[in-house]
Amino acid sequence: MAIAVTGIGSLLTNDPELGTITDAAVVMEGERVAWVGPSAQAPAADERVDAGGRAAIPGFVDSHAHLVFAGDRTAEFNARMSGRPYTAGGIRTTVAATRAATDEELDANVARYVAEALRQGTTTIECKSGYGLTVEDEARSLRAAANHTDEVTYLGAHIVAPEYDDDPAGYVDLVTGPMLAACAPYARWVDVFCERGAFDGDQARAILTAGAKAGLTPRVHANQLGPGPGVRLAVELGAASADHCTHLSDADVDALASGDTVATLLPGAEFSTRAPYPDARRLIDAGVTVALSTDCNPGSSFTSSMPFCVAIAVREMGMTPDEAVVAATLGGARALRRDDVGRLSPGARADLVLLDAPSHVHLAYRPGVPLVSAVWRGGVRHT
Ligand code: NIG
Ligand code: FE
Repeated sequence: MAIAVTGIGSLLTNDPELGTITDAAVVMEGERVAWVGPSAQAPAADERVDAGGRAAIPGFVDSHAHLVFAGDRTAEFNARMSGRPYTAGGIRTTVAATRAATDEELDANVARYVAEALRQGTTTIECKSGYGLTVEDEARSLRAAANHTDEVTYLGAHIVAPEYDDDPAGYVDLVTGPMLAACAPYARWVDVFCERGAFDGDQARAILTAGAKAGLTPRVHANQLGPGPGVRLAVELGAASADHCTHLSDADVDALASGDTVATLLPGAEFSTRAPYPDARRLIDAGVTVALSTDCNPGSSFTSSMPFCVAIAVREMGMTPDEAVVAATLGGARALRRDDVGRLSPGARADLVLLDAPSHVHLAYRPGVPLVSAVWRGGVRHT
């Protein structure tokens, strides 16, 4: 069954040859894009949708989210907005709530946030564990994530589990041993929070190396709260991405520019913790590939909105509107090492978002306005 979306005022394809096409059409055949070009030349299809001049973009690729959790942290947010600083310690609150939740509750929570993101144009979303911190709670967190996405990340090394307060080395042994063995079958990626108050460079190296031996590809929470070894470690180990990248030295930027590791920026976290934003301009000017993602989690960034992240990145991080929208689509695809999403050209997955606007620039120009008016994921219309 072929569906032709015609009359697209401006189509961002993210394809180097096709670029941005005006008065465009996209033909979807099953779950793939079959044809892209000028509306007037669109081939016949079983169904035709007139976009009426609205802009279209590839579905957002949110390559960093923590959706397996229970409870929320409203009180902590309130305290922070009254001047208290953000620390990794708040994660313990969510760990307690997550351990107390049933499998069904965790699954329903993931489903709810994946659906919330989809309504805002996110058609691919990564999802981490990290609020279980026991063998069984991490494994069931990953099972809940895997029910809703293929991009599942083992983050047993989010913080040291409270039971191991006096034995962090013992917790690293658990994370690299029995917990990894129980979790690896459900995950594609391994992640570690490499930060003061979580895991240091040596611990992070041990965790990522063990994960890689078990067939998982590394990604790293790096340089979020302060400078540290995370970014350089990510590049050295060939991680798919270094995430946050808020506090970078020149050596960190040089390392990113010399490797294939994507710098994933998460402005929702700086927004919700009242912290300075990462400098996207510096990274782009150095030749680093940048992705934008939500970091959706109940502590540091409780937003599932990619348009919100795009708007902040443009206003506060030195990105142009084009750069920000590309980072939120193609950049996320690169961070997940996917070439079937983040672009709209023949062969790509049919993930298409129509905007109630003449151009994708309006995502930054009209912050906070719900511009997403239709979403197809894999050729199926959801909104
Ligand atoms: O990416 N940095 C570590 N993890 C999350 C925060 C988790 C939390 O506060 O619950 C983040 O910001
Ligand atoms: Fe995160």
